Amino acid sequence: MKLAVGICGASGAMLGLKFVSKIWARDDLEIFLVISNGAKKTLLYENNIDFESLNAPNPLLQDLYKSKIKILDDLNLGECISSGSFGIDAMAIIPCSMNTLAKIACGISDTLITRSAIVCLKERKKLLLAPREMPLDSISLNNMLNLSKEGVVIAPPIMGYYSSASSLESMEDFLIGKWLDILNIKNSIYKRWG
Ligand SMILES: Cc1cc2nc3c(=O)[nH]c(=O)nc-3n(C[C@H](O)[C@H](O)[C@H](O)COP(=O)(O)O)c2cc1C
Repeated sequence: MKLAVGICGASGAMLGLKFVSKIWARDDLEIFLVISNGAKKTLLYENNIDFESLNAPNPLLQDLYKSKIKILDDLNLGECISSGSFGIDAMAIIPCSMNTLAKIACGISDTLITRSAIVCLKERKKLLLAPREMPLDSISLNNMLNLSKEGVVIAPPIMGYYSSASSLESMEDFLIGKWLDILNIKNSIYKRWG
């Protein structure tokens, strides 16, 4: 399965990195990761992860660079996932900023993340968005509704308590497991109900 993953500049960009870290060793997945400049800023402010600094790289980032994931530049619209003919099977944007949500809802494709999302729409491939904002304005809610009507799965990082998660990490695992379920990627990351 060819899976594109976008990480945008909403709060919790780290969750996007954790999402890929759970699946980057899998042989059944070819993963194309794009991290927006906005996400790089939130990762710096929220997690002290500096993409520019070579002196004190974050361990997760080091593992990411060592993994077989293909990391693509959000400003390079010539990358493989920009074209429908490349054959991406699904895309997840975790987290999705209101900015990127609005662009996709309007058909604006000026970054690799927005372009790839719109390719998923036109090719009728699965697109999962995890929008993160609180509270939500009517513009963003309308954008989500319009995209949902186009078949996009709107799956925000909203906590569920039935998995009896006892830590932030296990709550994040619950979210990641749910997102993987939606993408039809088998996993046993979280405790299911029943
Ligand atoms: C620390 C920080 C937290 C942010 N949190 C959010 C957020 O939760 N949701 C959101 O939509 N935008 C948030 N933003 C604003 C986005 O980063 C900004 O709109 C940016 O242009 C998004 O770019 P992108 O869509 O290309 O990733 C945040 C910005 C910063 C610096």
